[in-house]
Amino acid sequence: MKIILAQNSGFCFGVERAINKTLETIDTNKGVHSLGPLIHNKQAISFLSKKGLNTIKSLDEVDSGTVIIRSHGVPIDIHSKLENKNIESLDLTCPFVRKIQKKVEEYYNKGYKIIIIGNPEHPEVIGINGWCNNSANIINSKDDIEDTKKYDKICIVAQTTMNEEKFELLSELISKKSNEVLKFNTICNATKLRQMSCKEVAGKVDAMIVIGGYHSSNTQKLVTISKDICKNTYHIETVDDLNIKELQKYNLVGITAGASTPDWIIKEVVNQVSNIDNEMNMMMEEIEKSLV
Ligand code: F3S
Repeated sequence: MKIILAQNSGFCFGVERAINKTLETIDTNKGVHSLGPLIHNKQAISFLSKKGLNTIKSLDEVDSGTVIIRSHGVPIDIHSKLENKNIESLDLTCPFVRKIQKKVEEYYNKGYKIIIIGNPEHPEVIGINGWCNNSANIINSKDDIEDTKKYDKICIVAQTTMNEEKFELLSELISKKSNEVLKFNTICNATKLRQMSCKEVAGKVDAMIVIGGYHSSNTQKLVTISKDICKNTYHIETVDDLNIKELQKYNLVGITAGASTPDWIIKEVVNQVSNIDNEMNMMMEEIEKSLV
């Protein structure tokens, strides 16, 4: 069996920075808390928790130590709460997310209705909305647009992990609801590159394996993109989820991974898939022996 590993896969700049800085902080400080899981990957979280990182749901749970703001960012009022509580904090909001927060704040103050194209339940979107007094209209599907009223002027931004085609389609439709439209395609470059590489590989192979957390937004988008091109797409979190029997049917398998998937998990999967031929040969030998 042959494997093609997508050129752009695995940790993005923002996630890598968050993990490295968190590890440095754990090494030198006591009581390090992450406000929400640092990244959407169970295995990486369990690794960080063994190193000493405590995950909290709310600032009410802590009075001392250091609170880490993860790469998804938080609403502006969380920053004020941290100041009022007088707790040390380390802001690891990804610079690309920070840029959206600033844009949203600026245009909200200039009187624009803020439209976020993204998932209303995702922490990044909740955080961005907090920079315009939670007043944004969050659009995740065509249905959301039907109920939208007309506005004098709108400012459209995207969740950083949004699918390019979906952003273009939805932003085009929502633009009809206003005479003055400012549109910012804020999908981050790491996401664009991962989606492009995924498309490219999915178009060449018999089956695709997408590695990443089942709750990871950017991984789910890769799965959708891959499925549109290659119907034999398998979303797995770790090597344990591989269906070896199923994969034995294919000659050429593509592998990609979301921006929050650690390298060690990708390597384990690549090794296991490369060994499928060997495993098959061993099984054949076993069968032959039993027939002798
Ligand atoms: Fe930042 Fe893009 Fe990663 S916004 S956290 S570099 S997916």
